Amino acid sequence: MSSSERPDYVQQNVANWTRANAEYTDASAARAWAEEEIRWGVWRTPESDLNVLGDVDGLDIVELGCGTAYFSAWLARRGARVVGVDPTPAQLETARRLQRETGIEFPLIEAIGEDVPLPDASFDIVHSEYGAAIWADPYRWIPEAARLVRPGGRLIFLRNSTLSVLCMTMEEVGEQLVRPQFGLHKVDWQDTHEVEFHLGHGDWIELLRTNGFQLERLVELFAPADAETHSYYKYVTADWARRWPAEELWVTRLHDG
Ligand SMILES: C[S@@+](CC[C@H](N)C(=O)[O-])C[C@H]1O[C@@H](n2cnc3c(N)ncnc32)[C@H](O)[C@@H]1O
Repeated sequence: MSSSERPDYVQQNVANWTRANAEYTDASAARAWAEEEIRWGVWRTPESDLNVLGDVDGLDIVELGCGTAYFSAWLARRGARVVGVDPTPAQLETARRLQRETGIEFPLIEAIGEDVPLPDASFDIVHSEYGAAIWADPYRWIPEAARLVRPGGRLIFLRNSTLSVLCMTMEEVGEQLVRPQFGLHKVDWQDTHEVEFHLGHGDWIELLRTNGFQLERLVELFAPADAETHSYYKYVTADWARRWPAEELWVTRLHDG
């Protein structure tokens, strides 16, 4: 699919991610690439506490919405054969620069999670950390993930919790429900013109099962007792996230035969 054939929401989101790259992701990417530990989410829960990925050495992994590709770099450093996919050229340019600087090289492809130019059944894990997981239409990218993953392979993705989305205004995640869960799908942010996609848990499970995925774990991430509100992701406070799960990590496996 050429850039001009993409849905309107993709053009809007790419414009926003191009701006975000200039404002902060390019500057912060080197630090993220250099992290020793794999960590999950705003409060940086160590993978060693959660054991979601297991040993990735020798596995084929595609990250849909890889951004500046720090997560892909963490996986490549552990021996995975990684491919990063993202529609925003500026984000991929940062990733390429860091590949040159670190010597950690893997293919990077400019594409959306809804339409990935890679062969069927070619990955052990399809992964997304706030990439396709929230920016791609799940009714298009989950079937695409099912096409890409090998039978018995996994789809793993991290996203805002549905509860936090139901409580999220343009300013903050509050303590009241501000949008219905009935019909929850495309969320248009009027202030930034970003478009995100979110579903209720029942709809997620139905969609995953329809596409052959079995849910293995749904890990709800909370802020630790001593956490402070993140300086950039301040829309959700540490106080909120100590009491309710602000993020959720979905671990699923494609039927084997
Ligand atoms: C929060 S960043 C991802 C962070 C990433 N894990 C990293 O290591 O930098 C979100 C990314 O999603 C990408 N994106 C936007 N629309 C997308 C779509 N339809 N499919 C896949 N990725 C998309 C954006 O270009 C952006 O780079």
